[in-house]
Amino acid sequence: QTDNLTELENLNEETLLNELKARYDRDQIYTYVGEILVAVNPFKTIDGIYSDAKAAIYKDLGDRSVAPPHIFAVADAAFSAMINNTGEAANQVAVISGESGAGKTESAKLFMKHVIYLSSLVAGGLEEKIIQLNPLLEAWGNAATLRNDNSSRFGKFVQLRFNDQHQIQGAVMADYLLEKSRVVSQGEGERNFHVFYLMFAGMNPDELEKYNLVDAAEHAYLNGNNEAIAEIKSPQMKALYKELADCIEDVGFTTEEKNDMWAILAGVLLTGDIEFAGEDEAYVVSADDVMNKACTQLGIVQDALTEALTCSINIMRGKAFRKYKPFEAEGARDAMSKALYGKTFRWIVRRVNQLLGPKRKSKALTDKDIGILDIFGFECFDLNSFEQLLINLANERLQQFFNNFIFKMELDEYAKEGIDGSQIDYEDNEELLQMIMAKPAGLLSLCDEEAKMPKGSDVSMTEKFHAELGSNKGYTRPRGNDLKFTIHHYAGKVEYSSDGFLDKNRDTLPIDVVGALRLSDNNLVRSLFDGDADDAKAAKKGKAKRDVANARKSLRMSMKKAAKQAAKSNKKTVGLEFKESLVSLMDEMSKASPHFVRCIKPNHAKKPAIFQNDMVTDQLRYTGMLETTRIRKEGYAFRPTFGDFLNRFKMLGFPFGVNPPVNEVSCGKVLDVAGCKGWQVGKTKVFLRYFHMDELNEKFKPFPAVRSGCRSLFVWA
Ligand SMILES: Nc1ncnc2c1ncn2[C@@H]1O[C@H](COP(=O)(O)OP(=O)(O)OP(=O)(O)O)[C@@H](O)[C@H]1O
Ligand SMILES: [Mg+2]
Repeated sequence: QTDNLTELENLNEETLLNELKARYDRDQIYTYVGEILVAVNPFKTIDGIYSDAKAAIYKDLGDRSVAPPHIFAVADAAFSAMINNTGEAANQVAVISGESGAGKTESAKLFMKHVIYLSSLVAGGLEEKIIQLNPLLEAWGNAATLRNDNSSRFGKFVQLRFNDQHQIQGAVMADYLLEKSRVVSQGEGERNFHVFYLMFAGMNPDELEKYNLVDAAEHAYLNGNNEAIAEIKSPQMKALYKELADCIEDVGFTTEEKNDMWAILAGVLLTGDIEFAGEDEAYVVSADDVMNKACTQLGIVQDALTEALTCSINIMRGKAFRKYKPFEAEGARDAMSKALYGKTFRWIVRRVNQLLGPKRKSKALTDKDIGILDIFGFECFDLNSFEQLLINLANERLQQFFNNFIFKMELDEYAKEGIDGSQIDYEDNEELLQMIMAKPAGLLSLCDEEAKMPKGSDVSMTEKFHAELGSNKGYTRPRGNDLKFTIHHYAGKVEYSSDGFLDKNRDTLPIDVVGALRLSDNNLVRSLFDGDADDAKAAKKGKAKRDVANARKSLRMSMKKAAKQAAKSNKKTVGLEFKESLVSLMDEMSKASPHFVRCIKPNHAKKPAIFQNDMVTDQLRYTGMLETTRIRKEGYAFRPTFGDFLNRFKMLGFPFGVNPPVNEVSCGKVLDVAGCKGWQVGKTKVFLRYFHMDELNEKFKPFPAVRSGCRSLFVWA
């Protein structure tokens, strides 16, 4: 038995898998592979595994091998490295990856909890509030999917910032690519974001009435899933609502902000109930009451919303210059709901950063931080669209980061030391990344170019892809004229359907809808759409008597301003924004020492005690683990400097009391005398294979005192 699989004598795909399985069967869900922690999801509570007593063990460990592998050990290593280093070397980042349901978010929470535990041993702080954020983020950002009952539908990068006493001074968070489309429709057996159900579960009848809500089953955006509706009455849901409400309170949102948030949620749900009919020209068929409730919650004038959703208005002349067909009106309605939800989520993240971020004035604040990345794993479904492309791009880039760390550092070190590393090969994915990210002819740039053209279409965009990228070895065009293309990712080939790319990339809201929302008297709605309080007041004048003319006039004025703002703001496409946030994330990460946690989902059933070999093997490949084990085995596992090596082993080659010169000759002599074969000496370091340490230690047994004193020198560099 070994806790670190790189120590296995014969490490290959099969032994790696068998070892993980055997450990899993014994409830040992954590395993080291070199520096990397593999975490196999137990899908059950394992007694005492995260107890306070356990936490106390993983404190100042120094040498990780003295305690069983654990996520707390990774947190401890990161925290110690942060304390003991200065400059960029002090920054740490936990890179947590794996497929949906593998346990990334749980691992991220445990990692953070332990860092907070370690830091509050030094002194108290904001820790409670930071932990409390999870219910808020998960209510808004998580949903039950087929793969995970609590699936994060966004990526997040949290950085904990520290002062010179190593106490937490604040937390800053970035979010990536919330799956807004879930608000308006969910796949078979899946659910909307948790927060919608929690409202019904926890609010008392008076509160529900205030938000014009009665019964969750009535709402189109929720009524696809009866099981979810039935569960609303469960005590667990009530408790979760309470947790959420407490969190909103404790983190520091104002009462007004809180009311506005709930009103937006209710407004979105009620908007989903607005139905349209008509042959060519859409009109609202829902009862007046339905429209009225939605408008009440969103704080907008009913006639303005009706106009905005059923026609496109000519800003100059104030007339409808084109009436929508019913499906277009539905599109405008859903686009509005998605935008409201997505922008509110963004706002929550921004607001949380204000409330919990480090106070700049604080003199004690250092540049030291510990980041935690919990981001969607590689995805390959039957149908892959624009979202999958972005998600897989992020994974491709993260894989490069991982490769760079493991392989390139290895090769660079060999090169720097002038030793032969030719037996190690390394597949770089830079070319593929360039194919997607490069300007001006990379895939995303081509998407953007097409998005800017008034007559752009998915068809002409796909043709451009084929023409510009067709000669790349990482790209295959389809046989016929289907709107498809295939990318050869590090984890496998993925066929993408480019149908709908253009709209998803543009992600625009009809200007008429923006015009209406800018006039909201819900402060939050209005600020999300850059509205103006005076305009909103003026718009309300005719509200009581249903003054269509006034509504239309205000709407047109508001649209004019919205158009001006849009022209000035130079709104970025979804692809460009994602690319930029990925670049800045990687920039941040490149300034930190990474700690990799690879989460593995052992079965599709989300059940304990089932370990499906084929599934796990795929994931070991996706996460780069198979490559890692190979390289670590083939490379040089230990590489002390000449000085460190001689300090420890000189007695094997030189008489007691002699201090040999610190150079390659002296080191070589020690290794020759010890009978080791296959090592190399570089310019400053000795490169030893994993078995050399055993050979040297074997010879060195008579000197135990010296040995233990030098132990910490021999870590994987
Ligand atoms: N260490 C653990 N101990 C017990 N159960 C766990 C552990 N890690 C994960 N689980 C179980 O697995 C479920 C899924 O985990 P989690 O939500 O962390 O997955 P994820 O990788 O974040 O997935 P997604 O990408 O969908 O967000 C959890 O809700 C929990 O039931
Ligand atoms: Mg998650």
